[in-house]
Amino acid sequence: MAQTLMQVREWNAALKSARPETVALFVGGTSGIGKHTAIKLAGAVEKPTIYIVGRNEAAGAQVLEAMTKANPNGSYGFKAVDISDLRRVDEACKELKTQFKALDLLFLSAGALAVSKNETAAGIDVNHMLRYYSRMRFVENLLPLLEAAHYPRVISILAGGKEVMIEEDNLDLRKQFSLSASTGYPASMTSLAFEVLASEHPSVSFLHVFPGIVATPLLKNSMGSVAGTILGFLMKPISISAEESGEWHTWLSTSPNFAPKNSGQGAYIVNHDGKDATNQSLMTQLREKGLPEIVWKHTQDTFNRILT
Ligand SMILES: NC(=O)c1ccc[n+]([C@@H]2O[C@H](COP(=O)([O-])OP(=O)(O)OC[C@H]3O[C@@H](n4cnc5c(N)ncnc54)[C@H](OP(=O)(O)O)[C@@H]3O)[C@@H](O)[C@H]2O)c1
Repeated sequence: MAQTLMQVREWNAALKSARPETVALFVGGTSGIGKHTAIKLAGAVEKPTIYIVGRNEAAGAQVLEAMTKANPNGSYGFKAVDISDLRRVDEACKELKTQFKALDLLFLSAGALAVSKNETAAGIDVNHMLRYYSRMRFVENLLPLLEAAHYPRVISILAGGKEVMIEEDNLDLRKQFSLSASTGYPASMTSLAFEVLASEHPSVSFLHVFPGIVATPLLKNSMGSVAGTILGFLMKPISISAEESGEWHTWLSTSPNFAPKNSGQGAYIVNHDGKDATNQSLMTQLREKGLPEIVWKHTQDTFNRILT
């Protein structure tokens, strides 16, 4: 059910007593939605342990400073990793597994706006890699830590509810690429993969979130300073500030409304305010075509192709 900002603020303010400790990893925590959720969560929880991943060292140091200011009782870390390379993802996860025994929150928001195709060494477009494959690799690698936690949750900030029909022989977009497919395909693949993961790991919940239009550096980062500033200005009237987005996503990260389900149904497709965004008829069609299993098998095959 959708919440109001006031309800969300009340919940977040009560977290200090309700959630004395939490361990969270923000992949894409150096900017935008990930950064502001990490800072908000740091301030909301009594004793947070928060680790962030991104490439920009200076931005990472700034977020560490902001989290320490928000809550000096927390323990914070940053690791510079280019997650468009799955080998770097595996290395980072290996290191994280030595540092943490359990992980309550895996918050995935690394990405950019696609303005053109740009292939990685693996032959997959960079944005497709960031939006889907590298995020799923973090999930797969860190599931043992999530399953060992009290409140395990995975959140992918992307385009929940904006799924499209997908072709099983073009999942990696290597057969046919278009900018619209590069946004629609990872949305569908995330929602379908999360259904499979929730049924196989019923103690963990999985949220695919559409965050709304959020005023972050995304436009400037993706389109350049001039075009990004102009578009950002034009979109201002319909935008949520990055700070407010951090409040919504702190609630989404901790609310029992999105708990794991023993029935294996703990996958949610929601807007930033928690409103169910599931496109029921499209999801039914995708399921009828067997696409949840096809997408997950393709994901495993792609990991094997790239990593072995
Ligand atoms: N903002 C919106 O209105 C909006 C709306 C719908 C969906 N989304 C989606 O939400 C996600 C987050 O958006 P945002 O607005 O928070 O964007 P943002 O402010 O540009 O932040 C993107 C994050 O991704 C990280 N990143 C990008 N490429 C990376 C790479 N190769 N390796 C590691 N980290 C990388 C960046 O860190 P470094 O620069 O340090 O590498 C940064 O922390 C994106 O996937 C976006 O498509 C956003």
